[in-house]
Amino acid sequence: MSNILVSLLLCIIFYMISGGVSSCIEKERQALLDVKANLTDPGGYLDDWGSEGEKMDCCKWTRVTCDDTSGHVIRLGLTFYHLHDPYRGFTGNFSPSLQVLNQLRYLELSYFDFQSNPLPNFLGSLSNLQTLYISNANLSGPIPHQLANLSNLLDLDLSNNSLSGSIPFSLGYMTSLTYLILAQNQLGGVVPNSFGNSSSIVHLDLSQNLLNESLPSFAGCSSLISLFVANNFFSGSMPDFTGCTSLRELDLSGNILSGNIPNSVLQLSNLIYLKVSHNSLRGSIPNFIGCHSLSFLDLSSNQFHGNVSNSLGQVSHLNTLDLSSNSLEGVISEAHFVTITQLDYLDLSLNSLASDLNFTERVPFQLSTIKLQSCKLGPGFPMWIKTQRQVTYLDISNAGILDSVPDWLWNQLPIGLKFLNLSSNQIKGKLPYMGELYLHGSPGLDLSNNHFEGEVSLLPLTLTALNLSGNKFSGNLSFVCQLAMFLTFLDLSNNSFSGELPACWMNFQEKLVVLNLSNNNLSGVIPSSLGSLDKLEALYLRANTLVGEVPESLSNCKSLRFVDLGGNNLSGIIPEWIGEELSELYVLDLESNRFSGRLPSHLCWLYNLQVLDLSNNGLFGNIPKCFDNFTAMARKNFRYDMSKHSYSSYDGSYSTREPSRRGCLYTGPCQEDAYFSDNAWIRWKGTERSFGRSILHLLKSIDLSRNNLSGNIPDEITSLYELISLNLSFNRLHGEVPKDIGRLKYLESFDLSRNEFSGHIPWTLSELNFLSYLDLSFNNLSGRIPTGSQLQGFDYTSYAGNPQLCGPPLTPRCGSSPVAEKKKATEEDEDDSWKSYNTGMGAGFAVGFLGICGALTGNCHCRDILFVSLSYIKDWIYVTVVVYFSKLERKFRR
Ligand SMILES: *[C@@H]1O[C@H](CO)[C@@H](O)[C@H](O)[C@H]1NC(C)=O
Ligand SMILES: *[C@@H]1O[C@H](CO)[C@@H](O)[C@H](O)[C@H]1NC(C)=O
Ligand SMILES: *[C@@H]1O[C@H](CO)[C@@H](O)[C@H](O)[C@H]1NC(C)=O
Ligand SMILES: *[C@@H]1O[C@H](CO)[C@@H](O)[C@H](O)[C@H]1NC(C)=O
Ligand SMILES: *[C@@H]1O[C@H](CO)[C@@H](O)[C@H](O)[C@H]1NC(C)=O
Repeated sequence: MSNILVSLLLCIIFYMISGGVSSCIEKERQALLDVKANLTDPGGYLDDWGSEGEKMDCCKWTRVTCDDTSGHVIRLGLTFYHLHDPYRGFTGNFSPSLQVLNQLRYLELSYFDFQSNPLPNFLGSLSNLQTLYISNANLSGPIPHQLANLSNLLDLDLSNNSLSGSIPFSLGYMTSLTYLILAQNQLGGVVPNSFGNSSSIVHLDLSQNLLNESLPSFAGCSSLISLFVANNFFSGSMPDFTGCTSLRELDLSGNILSGNIPNSVLQLSNLIYLKVSHNSLRGSIPNFIGCHSLSFLDLSSNQFHGNVSNSLGQVSHLNTLDLSSNSLEGVISEAHFVTITQLDYLDLSLNSLASDLNFTERVPFQLSTIKLQSCKLGPGFPMWIKTQRQVTYLDISNAGILDSVPDWLWNQLPIGLKFLNLSSNQIKGKLPYMGELYLHGSPGLDLSNNHFEGEVSLLPLTLTALNLSGNKFSGNLSFVCQLAMFLTFLDLSNNSFSGELPACWMNFQEKLVVLNLSNNNLSGVIPSSLGSLDKLEALYLRANTLVGEVPESLSNCKSLRFVDLGGNNLSGIIPEWIGEELSELYVLDLESNRFSGRLPSHLCWLYNLQVLDLSNNGLFGNIPKCFDNFTAMARKNFRYDMSKHSYSSYDGSYSTREPSRRGCLYTGPCQEDAYFSDNAWIRWKGTERSFGRSILHLLKSIDLSRNNLSGNIPDEITSLYELISLNLSFNRLHGEVPKDIGRLKYLESFDLSRNEFSGHIPWTLSELNFLSYLDLSFNNLSGRIPTGSQLQGFDYTSYAGNPQLCGPPLTPRCGSSPVAEKKKATEEDEDDSWKSYNTGMGAGFAVGFLGICGALTGNCHCRDILFVSLSYIKDWIYVTVVVYFSKLERKFRR
């Protein structure tokens, strides 16, 4: 009996110690309920937080953990992330009641939507906090310095928000902090010195911010294991890492660091991962032998020069080596790879390197990625590649290979080769039968610009990208239909393919982004099944012998941005739906066909249009007044991605191989995009030329020449301020040249020849400072060619065939009374000086669109900025010079 009593008593005591005591502390329960009351919870994740009956015990709530003995809340995780619906998580304000939970050790609020509010200061009073995760939480404003009060904090992750301001220096003095991630914010200013040597931080990630100036010295940072500061604006030389004996991962890429790689880095014997790409580092490739553990080395896109020393071959754990886009020279031979047996990724592209690899004796490594673009590998085919039986990505383009492709290479395709680029060699021969191959993982094939010939039978059925352009392939296109399953990019241009276009496009499952069949011998009609390609962004059918009308089904292809059907025998009217449905179009080229009828005013809906070429057709009627609706021709346009079309293909970037770090989940330079840049074939200053890449998105041109258009030039056209080329020649246009033509101040090429224009040449034409091609010949213009201006700089042929035109450069002199140029007397002074400035300068003065763009190379972003700023400089020079000369002239006259 007493035994039973004792047991009962023990049970009660046990209950009180364990379950009983652990029921939550009322004050903390109220605080949590207050937190809940202040936020929205659309997913109902906190439904079991309440006051009724069984909901009373806050230690049993989801997302809350209490301490077993004290009953205090020690963990709180208000995070919710749903991949497909990121906005169903928590939002709202954070109640200051949270401070009551002062025993909290772990707090995670990632993906909580703070709606651009700042991080609450009161977090600084949760003095027992060890872990604080608030990434992807739509935070803005500065990092509160109160966080430095969290003297027990070990882990702090505030990445991927919009935090701004500078990093509080006090964070560097937090004695417990080991893991600090502030990546992907808008933090600016300098990194405080406290983050260097004195800090206790082990993992520091400041990537993708706006941090600048030089990095602090890390000398003596014995605890640091990983440092990621990529994609900021750090300048100066690489910091000192002397004594950072624990450092294993170092990413300084995407900054503006200069100078050499310091010795202190070369002695980091535990370094595994070193990425310094996209900086301005120079010198020769240093000796990395001191980095015994180095397995990942990316020195790409810097200014390293000279030979690659054999010592690289002794960095025996190397797995990934990227030296691309430097100025390295000399020969790469077996001696470079004697002990590198684990090499897997090799990129030596875009240097002046030659390869002398042979591997007759033994093969040191099995590479999966080989990128040797623009290395000198030819003239024979580089046979050592045969030894690389696990290769998935092979780029040996532009490598001076004159040979044919050995069979063993084609045989690699079924066993794992996913991307092959042989472009821009002089490789000859036929393609073998490769049908019925089912390759995995977005395979792509680029054989462009070689001497391949013959018919194309069957290609691997799962290709996602195929480029056969610039060869001598012939036969029909029936093989294309076999590729319907996955193809996103198809370029067969500049070959001798013949026969009709296949009619199987409805099988392409809306994936195709670019279709280029230009410059072949294709005949027949445009099949209406092409209209099923509703992801199609660029359609090139130029220079074939296609007939019939443009099928109305193409109005479904609403993603189309670039359409070139020029140089065929297409007929019918220019359909109204082009304007109504294809609102993304920026290039529309229908030149040299047999289109007839009027210009539909619906074309004016194309507000993105930059290039309109309808020349050499049978169009009649007026030029619609609404042409001023071509907004993109009236404004500076920064949407330069219009000419880029990204498609899917096997991705040979190494991002997937980077060490496990939260970091490479980031978007941005980690991922290489396969994309195609448009190329437009345009008549420019009298000759046809192609506009590609960097220049096309800046070209704004209208060509309606060689039609039967009549009526006047609508004045509205003079509001297309950014127009660079206007060709209305060979029509039956009449009336006067618009008085305000001078408003088109970037016009470089202006052709009104072979029309019936009458009246005077407007004075404002001489204000076109960049005009370097002018043709007004064979009209009925009369009077004096505005004198004393660059209009005299053009050859007389620019004015010929206008019997009533007089004055230089034409021989007929004008009568004694100068032809009245309607000018206000007040303007006379300025105008005279303007004239004298221009005299003698002639047409050659203008630098112009091509002059500027043609010379520019390098980073596309810079190129655009440069172009834009140059066009402002153009204005500035113009204004400054005019003002200066007019002042000067007034001075002399006194
Ligand atoms: C931070 O600590 C300082 C002194 O250690 C104290 O004065 C201050 O009130 C604390 N701030 C917060 C937000 O707890
Ligand atoms: C293939 O190589 C050429 C020349 O080096 C390059 O321009 C092209 O972009 C490469 N193709 C692909 C799909 O990467
Ligand atoms: C100008 O374009 C817009 C669409 O971009 C269209 O709605 C409008 O009707 C056009 N105006 C004229 C006069 O065609
Ligand atoms: C304008 O078009 C005509 C006919 O298409 C062509 O002969 C001439 O060269 C073009 N003018 C310019 C400046 O390109
Ligand atoms: C040419 O212009 C003159 C006026 O300058 C006019 O009298 C004449 O009829 C015009 N000729 C033609 C063919 O249009």
